[in-house]
Amino acid sequence: MSTTSSGNAEGVMEANAEKRGHWSSRLAFILAATGSAVGLGNIWKFPYITGENGGGAFVMVYLVCIAAIGIPIMMAEVMIGRRGGHSPVNSLRAIAERDSLSKAWPLVGAVGVLAAFLILSFYSVIGGWAVSYVGTAATGQLAGKDADAIGAIFSGLVSDPGTLLLWHTVFMALVMVVVARGVSAGLEKAVSILMPALFVLLLITVGYAMTSGHFGDAVAFLFEPDFSKLTTKGVLIALGHAFFTLSLGMAVMMAYGSYLPKGISIAKTSITVSIIDAVVALLAGLAIFPVVFANGLEPGAGPGLIFQTLPFAFGQMPMGSFFGTLFFILLIFAAWTSGISLLEPLVEWLEEQKGMNRTVSTLGAGIACWALGIASILSLNLWSDVHPLGMFTMFEGKTIFDLLDFLTANILLPLGGLLVAVFTGWFMSRQALENELNLPTSGFNLWYNTIRFLTPVAVAIVFIYNLV
Ligand code: TRP
Repeated sequence: MSTTSSGNAEGVMEANAEKRGHWSSRLAFILAATGSAVGLGNIWKFPYITGENGGGAFVMVYLVCIAAIGIPIMMAEVMIGRRGGHSPVNSLRAIAERDSLSKAWPLVGAVGVLAAFLILSFYSVIGGWAVSYVGTAATGQLAGKDADAIGAIFSGLVSDPGTLLLWHTVFMALVMVVVARGVSAGLEKAVSILMPALFVLLLITVGYAMTSGHFGDAVAFLFEPDFSKLTTKGVLIALGHAFFTLSLGMAVMMAYGSYLPKGISIAKTSITVSIIDAVVALLAGLAIFPVVFANGLEPGAGPGLIFQTLPFAFGQMPMGSFFGTLFFILLIFAAWTSGISLLEPLVEWLEEQKGMNRTVSTLGAGIACWALGIASILSLNLWSDVHPLGMFTMFEGKTIFDLLDFLTANILLPLGGLLVAVFTGWFMSRQALENELNLPTSGFNLWYNTIRFLTPVAVAIVFIYNLV
């Protein structure tokens, strides 16, 4: 984007939007955005943080955060992307120039690019766990094992840096191959088959969980709020997870929105994507917690939770090796489509800003991220006693892996979301917002007031409360 005069920018934006192509349909956008949103966050992270934070009350706060904060911010991000018509940093720049706003706004995009890079470094390590479990399930190692034996398989994996490195490398390579080729038709097609398949498999595991005799306990744990178990830190985690699971706060939805044709309802699509995402997370909870309660496992077991419960369930069910293998393959795909959306912003930025070609920028970004991932791997075993910022109470006892997770999900993403809300609610022209969203007046006012007041205030309060 070379133009600096604001009068010219609109025309250039439109010409550029023509040139960049569009999603082939509303469904295509929904699939791609869902592919980014539905990932390890839903199936791996949601159940274990729910377990650690006491269940029902946490789930309720999480759902409120999705509805009241996540959906309005997703709409804002998609809208900035469509209006700007560029990669996130330059979309923000284009809009800021057009409306004569501060030149600092594109920095919001830059924070996003950094957050994505940090997330992918540990995300890929967990993606590697899923890759490893495909082999474990396929070779029948889960069949008929008791919970202790299943737990031993997991501890064996995380205590072995060499094996972790191997699968982390495989996962990162998968992500890099797609990103290097450009995220296009292939991704759209893959997501349209794999996401429904994952959904069906999740239903099958929920079906199995119903037979465990403890389904009722799980439903009670997830949906009967006990607010005495909720801490303020839990509220921050629920808020951060709402951003994480919807891929918000770091410009991914802006990037995807830039390909959304005019005339498609931003509100409807954002709501659809968010509902699918929340339903997948709740299904994962309903698949996992009955197994936890039926076998006297610990709901607060931490990041290993799904790798100790689902394998057990597969080990018991008829044709479990088959379903288990299939499940972990689909989990890889869910993680893969999210991983792609995490690497894409940095690669796009290197291309646009540094003039590198796509292959070189993918290699550079991917390898740097892979290298950082090694620190997360080591923090699971050899460096498990290393707590880099342990002198601050907030970070007490956190390993490198924990720190990266905490810093991104609970600080950078909400911060990014807060800035997006302030940018759209207080700086963009109201006329532009009305045109883009094209909602009935009452709907527009609801969104506009939420993004101007509720969202920034809620995020700020949760933040400040946790810092002091
Ligand atoms: N939403 C994905 C998940 O739940 C992770 C993810 C992909 C993400 N892209 C993102 C998180 C962008 C934050 C920002 O697994």
